[in-house]
Amino acid sequence: MNMYTSANKYFNNFINTNFDINDEKISHKVKHTYQVVNNAKYICKKLNLDELNTDIAMVIALLHDIGRFTQAKEMKNFREDITSFDHAALGVKLLFDKNEIRNFVSSSEYDEIIKKAIANHSKYIFDESGLSDKEILHCKIIRDADKIDSFRGKSVDDIYTMANIYSEDIENSIITDKVYNDFMNEKTILSKDRKTGIDIWISYIAFIFGLNFKCSYKLIKEKNYINKLFDRFEYKLETKKMNDLRIKALNYLDQKLVS
Ligand SMILES: [Fe+2]
Repeated sequence: MNMYTSANKYFNNFINTNFDINDEKISHKVKHTYQVVNNAKYICKKLNLDELNTDIAMVIALLHDIGRFTQAKEMKNFREDITSFDHAALGVKLLFDKNEIRNFVSSSEYDEIIKKAIANHSKYIFDESGLSDKEILHCKIIRDADKIDSFRGKSVDDIYTMANIYSEDIENSIITDKVYNDFMNEKTILSKDRKTGIDIWISYIAFIFGLNFKCSYKLIKEKNYINKLFDRFEYKLETKKMNDLRIKALNYLDQKLVS
């Protein structure tokens, strides 16, 4: 049995014993987890990685949001994380403080890679210093795999469930200048710079500026996520600016696919 298969066995057990899978936030997170596993597998295939690295990447994907489950149970929404809660650090604590990781993965050989990849998966800026090439690779895989699924989620899921804001907050708000300018300069958006509902929505689309692999851009393009996200709401006060941002994002994607 490979590492992923046995880790997944225990993961199912862990979720079923500790959480209520009928709770929407929990089932939402379970679905996200498996989508991220699939994305990680897809990236590994496109990068021609060997079986062992694919196995490691899938285990990291399976465990990357383990802290979110506890967060969903104990806090009323996922967005609180943005200002007050580092779910990645909680995940690392949960897995490594009391050696819970051994229930998922019997060998300790890959502990450091798993720990570093989970710790770094959601950081705004990924600092590569002090990390080995292999650790950097796995950090990049989980970061892309997670962002790709964020696009899927944002294109279909209920906005209140995922972001704790209502569609009216997005449709009737004004874009903060800093958010607009950062997007136009191909930058991801800092949480603290988001002041309005539409800022939050734009920050999700700006995830494309933080991707690492060409195959990730390819998937975003194939699934038409940029247009799907822009099309999701009617921007009553910001029609023109949202159109500028859409063009920017689509051009950026095309440019990444030819380079
Ligand atoms: Fe995630």
